[in-house]
Amino acid sequence: MLNKISDIEKEIALFLPKSSEALENFRIKYLGKKGIITSLFSDFRNVPAVDKKSVGQAINNLKIFASEKYKQLKLDLYSDEVESSGLDLSRPGTPFSPGARHPLSIVRNEIIGIFSRLGFIISEGPEIEDDGHVFSKLNFPPDHPARDMQDTFFIHRNSDDESSPEDILLRTHTSSVQVRIMEGEKPPIRTISPGRVFRNEAISARAHCIFHQVEGLYIDENVSFADLKQTLLFFATEMFGKKTRIRLRPSYFPFTEPSAEMDVSCTICSGKGCNVCKYTGWLEILGCGMVDPNVLDSCGINNKKYTGYAFGMGIERLAMLKYRINDLRLYFENDIKFLEQFRSAF
Ligand code: DAH
Repeated sequence: MLNKISDIEKEIALFLPKSSEALENFRIKYLGKKGIITSLFSDFRNVPAVDKKSVGQAINNLKIFASEKYKQLKLDLYSDEVESSGLDLSRPGTPFSPGARHPLSIVRNEIIGIFSRLGFIISEGPEIEDDGHVFSKLNFPPDHPARDMQDTFFIHRNSDDESSPEDILLRTHTSSVQVRIMEGEKPPIRTISPGRVFRNEAISARAHCIFHQVEGLYIDENVSFADLKQTLLFFATEMFGKKTRIRLRPSYFPFTEPSAEMDVSCTICSGKGCNVCKYTGWLEILGCGMVDPNVLDSCGINNKKYTGYAFGMGIERLAMLKYRINDLRLYFENDIKFLEQFRSAF
């Protein structure tokens, strides 16, 4: 047996393949499942006990020798092939440019970051909604103009003459997520809901039929307007800088009472007056207010025990102010020249 092994070893030592095919045949012949070395291992059973140690060692060494030889031959063949192909493997690779985040994603992530530092969690709701979640439960009267065909993309209407809570539509604001959260969870609730919304608008530099909002909602015992104001001031200074001032102007939304719109001191002229703020020194950035007790009630929350505030802002608008983008259509055109400018931001 030892003689046989040493003959095989000599054979292997002398082998020199001319092609990768010949090398593959070598592998199959010696190292394959039905190869010579495997069959030596099965013959090993019949070796007398006294010889087992030396024969066993010899077969193992042979196997290592064959495997090493195969590896080395493979490398040699590969470099021969590369050399004869004329490829220059030392040439530097073609650089590839990393992608950039979309400005809307950058601003959305920034808003989420600021509110999560205050303990708000993120929630999402469906883009295809029913009238109940987008309008009725948010205290919109049946004849409110926002429900009109002119503003809302309807998917299914039960009747042409009057709206019904079962009508199916594309949500016109993320306030619908407030309703879903209040229906499904018990206070305290502290959540923000970023998402895409749809309105039937002609596309121009200042209007689009698709845009994005972030909705905020905080419900607990004794939540006050002062809490809302302090939270929004924190948001504004984090987003636009420490020196930013805010002002709240009385407004109207069906789902909040009282309601307000919030302005920040102009991010361009810091309040002195310029063409971006139309020489007022202020820029409007969001709507807010105390959740109307009727809304709490229609979402199953005890309005004697709990109060809350809500706010909603447009991501496109904030990104326009932050990056001085002057046309809404740029966000959706996917022009590389526009998108590449945001490569350094996260
Ligand atoms: N849903 C309003 C809109 O789309 C924005 C808004 C205003 C949301 C006031 C709120 C709020 O939560 O309290 O214009």
